Amino acid sequence: MRIFVTGGAGYIGSHTLVQLLGAGHDLCVLDNFSNSSLEALRRVRQLTNRDFALVEADIRDTATLTEAMSGFAPDAVVHFAGLKAVGESGEKPLLYYDNNVTGSANLLAAMDTAGCRRIVFSSSATVYGEAQYLPFDEDHPIAPTNPYGRTKAMVEEMIRDWTAATDGASAALLRYFNPVGAHESGRIGEDPRDIPNNLMPFIAQVAVGRRAKLSVFGDDYETRDGTGERDYIHVVDLAAAHSAALEYCARTEGCEAINVGTGRGITVMEMVAAYEEACGHAIAAEIAPRRPGDVASSYAATAKAARLLNWHAERGVDAMCESSWRWQSTNSEGYGEKA
Ligand code: NAD
Ligand code: WQD
Repeated sequence: MRIFVTGGAGYIGSHTLVQLLGAGHDLCVLDNFSNSSLEALRRVRQLTNRDFALVEADIRDTATLTEAMSGFAPDAVVHFAGLKAVGESGEKPLLYYDNNVTGSANLLAAMDTAGCRRIVFSSSATVYGEAQYLPFDEDHPIAPTNPYGRTKAMVEEMIRDWTAATDGASAALLRYFNPVGAHESGRIGEDPRDIPNNLMPFIAQVAVGRRAKLSVFGDDYETRDGTGERDYIHVVDLAAAHSAALEYCARTEGCEAINVGTGRGITVMEMVAAYEEACGHAIAAEIAPRRPGDVASSYAATAKAARLLNWHAERGVDAMCESSWRWQSTNSEGYGEKA
C-alpha cells in the first residue's frame, strides 16, 4: 500500500513507520517537527534499511499539503499530527482547535482532491471523560473534560460525517489508552521536549538521573494500592494495531471507533516497581496531592479490536519498562544527543 503519514516523526508515528516499512508499504511522511526531530526519521531509516518520502510542512498549510498528497497519490492516510498536552490545551485552546481540528479538516479536503478514501486516525481514550462504568467500551458516552479531548471528539465526528458523505470511504478511529515503551532496539523512543507530563517518561528520567524524584499524584484513590490505575499499551503493539487498521479499512466501508489497550489496569506504584526491576535500582518517589482532573481508573474493553482488527496486545508491563529503559539509558538526552 501507499500510505501518507502525518506526524510520522513523533513518538507513536516513528514506531509505526518501522512497522509499516517492515511490512513493505511505501510511505510519504509529512511533519512540521513542532514536537519531533529529524533524527528520529534518520534512525527509522537505519532500523528498517528502507527509505520514504518526507515533506516538512504543516497540515494547516493547505496548498503544500494538497500538492504533497496529490503527488504521492496514497491508498490510505494515517493521521498522527496533533498537539497532545492536556494542560497546555486549557491555556491555549484556540491553538489546539486550529492545529487539531482545522488541520484535520484540511487533511480530509486534501484527501478528496487526491481521491484517497481511507483514514486511520489517532484518537484517544480521553474522549470518554469520567467513567460511567469500566471497562470503557466504544459505546461509553463521549464527554471529554478538557480542550485537547474535545478536539479529538470533534475530529472523530468530522471523520464520521466525511465517511458518510464519501462513496467507498473507510475510517478507523483508534482510541489509544496510555502508550508507553520503545522499540526493542532502544534506538527510537519517547523524547518529551519539556518536563514530562506523563508517568512513564517521568519515571524514566528519574531512573536515568535527569530528575530527582517522582511525585505520585494521590494515594487515596479506590484502587488496589490507592494510586491511579491506567491501561498502558506498548507502543510496538500500538504500531501493529495501525497495520491491522489499515488492512481493515482496505476491506470495509464506513467509520468505526476502536479502543487500543490491553484491558488491564496498572497502578502508579506497580509501574514504579516494574521499572525498578527493569533498571536495577530504586526510583525515588514521594506521595503528592491528587492532580486536578485525574480519574481513579481507566482501562479498555478490547473485544471490538479483537473482532474487527484481529489484533490484541502481546507485550506486558515488563517489556514496556525494559524497552523504555534501554532507550532512556542509551539516549539520556533523547534525540538531542546524537548517537
Ligand atoms: P508526538 O507529539 O510525539 O507526535 C505528533 C507529531 O505530529 C509530531 O511529530 C509533531 O511535530 C507533528 N505535528 C503536530 N502538529 C502538526 C501540524 N500542524 N502539522 C504537521 N505536523 C504536526 O505525539 P504522539 O504521542 O506520537 O501522538 C501521536 C498522536 O496520537 C497525536 O494525535 C496524539 O494526540 C495521539 N494520542 C497520543 C497519546 C499519547 O499518550 N502519546 C494518547 C492518545 C492519543
Ligand atoms: C498516568 C497516572 C497520574 C505523572 C494522559 C492524557 C490522555 C492521554 C494519555 C493523549 C495517573 C499518575 C503521572 C506523574 C503521577 N494522552 N502520575 N506522577 O493522565 O492517564 O493520560 O496521557 O491522548 O489524554 O490525559 O496519563 O501518564 O499523565 O498519568 O503519579 O508525574 O500516573 O496521576 O494516575 P493520563 P499520565
